[in-house]
Amino acid sequence: MHFTLVAFLSLAACATAATNSSECYGSTLPLVPSSVGSENRTIPWGSPALTLQNGTLCCESLNQVRAGIDDVDTQLLELLALRAGYVREATRFKATLDTVDVPSRDQAVIQGAVDTANSTSPPLPATIARAVFEAIINASVPFEQCIFGQFCGGAKK
Ligand SMILES: *[C@@H]1O[C@H](CO)[C@@H](O)[C@H](O)[C@H]1NC(C)=O
Ligand SMILES: *[C@@H]1O[C@H](CO)[C@@H](O)[C@H](O)[C@H]1NC(C)=O
Ligand SMILES: *[C@@H]1O[C@H](CO)[C@@H](O)[C@H](O)[C@H]1NC(C)=O
Ligand SMILES: *[C@@H]1O[C@H](CO)[C@@H](O)[C@H](O)[C@H]1NC(C)=O
Ligand SMILES: *[C@@H]1O[C@H](CO)[C@@H](O)[C@H](O)[C@H]1NC(C)=O
Repeated sequence: MHFTLVAFLSLAACATAATNSSECYGSTLPLVPSSVGSENRTIPWGSPALTLQNGTLCCESLNQVRAGIDDVDTQLLELLALRAGYVREATRFKATLDTVDVPSRDQAVIQGAVDTANSTSPPLPATIARAVFEAIINASVPFEQCIFGQFCGGAKK
């Protein structure tokens, strides 16, 4: 009973600053210390909550966070380049422009990412999975259509 009340008050205190955190993140955010009543927080607040693949608990500084993000972004770029390479290959197996994009396949890819998101380590917020994969698909369709049009004799339907 007492615990329930405390949990409720904690949620209520965060409600102005955040939307539904369980919806956004799939798990509870680190609790904000009760002394944090104003909009200006004493930093760093909470405690490190990201376990890296080598077992290190991160993070101790904003510099460390940004170095980690830069490292991830470099890997993402390589993977996006590889994905675009596959997309380009896919056009070679399409006979007409109107079959280049397959909306049902697009939706399956996006839904697959959303469904898998919570199984990754750490869990990927489903909202991020959906927005990013929608953006990847949205960027890839015009690219694939452009590639299709580039092939001499292949642009005509
Ligand atoms: C927050 O999101 C969760 C998961 O989607 C849902 O079960 C819950 O009802 C939501 N709470 C509020 C207050 O909207
Ligand atoms: C928070 O900090 C800013 C900038 O230092 C200041 O202008 C503002 O009055 C502070 N707000 C509160 C509620 O302390
Ligand atoms: C774990 O990985 C992080 C990020 O690559 C690195 O900064 C850290 O030094 C590593 N820790 C150990 C114990 O290897
Ligand atoms: C995400 O996975 C965790 C751990 O397996 C589970 O407790 C939680 O209910 C899952 N959340 C959603 C939104 O599926
Ligand atoms: C992707 O395109 C669809 C359809 O045009 C649109 O509804 C959606 O908002 C777009 N998503 C992103 C992330 O650009």
